[in-house]
Amino acid sequence: MRYFLLIFLTVVAVVFGIAGRRGHLSRKPPILIIPDLNHQFKLRPEQPNGFFANGLSSQLPPPGTIPRSQPMPTLNGPVYPYEDSPANTGRTTGTTNFVDTNPLPVTPALLRQGREQFEIYCTPCHGALGDGNGIMKKLGVMPAVANLHDKRIVEMTDGEIFNTVTHGKNLMGAYGPTVPVKERWAIIAYVRALQLSWLGSTNNLPPNLQAALK
Ligand code: HEC
Repeated sequence: MRYFLLIFLTVVAVVFGIAGRRGHLSRKPPILIIPDLNHQFKLRPEQPNGFFANGLSSQLPPPGTIPRSQPMPTLNGPVYPYEDSPANTGRTTGTTNFVDTNPLPVTPALLRQGREQFEIYCTPCHGALGDGNGIMKKLGVMPAVANLHDKRIVEMTDGEIFNTVTHGKNLMGAYGPTVPVKERWAIIAYVRALQLSWLGSTNNLPPNLQAALK
């Protein structure tokens, strides 16, 4: 009984010591085992600190982030804010009209990059030929995939295709978040090459090559 009383009183003293009286106000800061956020160490805006080498609390964005006002690295010329650059939006600046043609110079290197990216991102559904017969259709997962050789799509402006690739359409997902701007234009250049490979005839060849064929 004596031990029980002793233990009971000790427990009461400890609980009372830690928890205090109900409704009791104290001017002292509470004991926090894990400090609340407002007590934690943090960098205050515009305040010098010893945490970063340059003493600023706002650091440059990490590599790979795209500031909204940055021009595309491959585009020479005036620096537009993000929204005002046709390369970023696929639209003519200041309007909602799609640009007709690829704002990047179409070079063999761009086409090669476009082919690589097309084969990674687009062939599962559209097929290597772009005719919509990708593995997804063969497996029956994605029954109606657009044939990129449809007249309607061939006649689309580059900007509209850029818009579809960037934002997706119905069952087709958006590639804006995963495929960088330049690679999206490269894909579009390659889609155009694929379309030409279907539409072209020997009449499109330069005369000397036509003669060589005959
Ligand atoms: C998951 C399957 C899938 C993938 C991957 C995919 N697409 Fe599509 N795509 C579709 C489907 C389905 C449609 C038909 C959408 C509709 O009109 O309902 C479509 C439509 C299109 C169209 C026509 C859009 C229109 O306005 O009618 C274009 C152009 C296109 N895709 C290009 C691409 C390109 C380029 C890629 C690679 C970056 C790609 N797609 C990747 C499924 C896919």
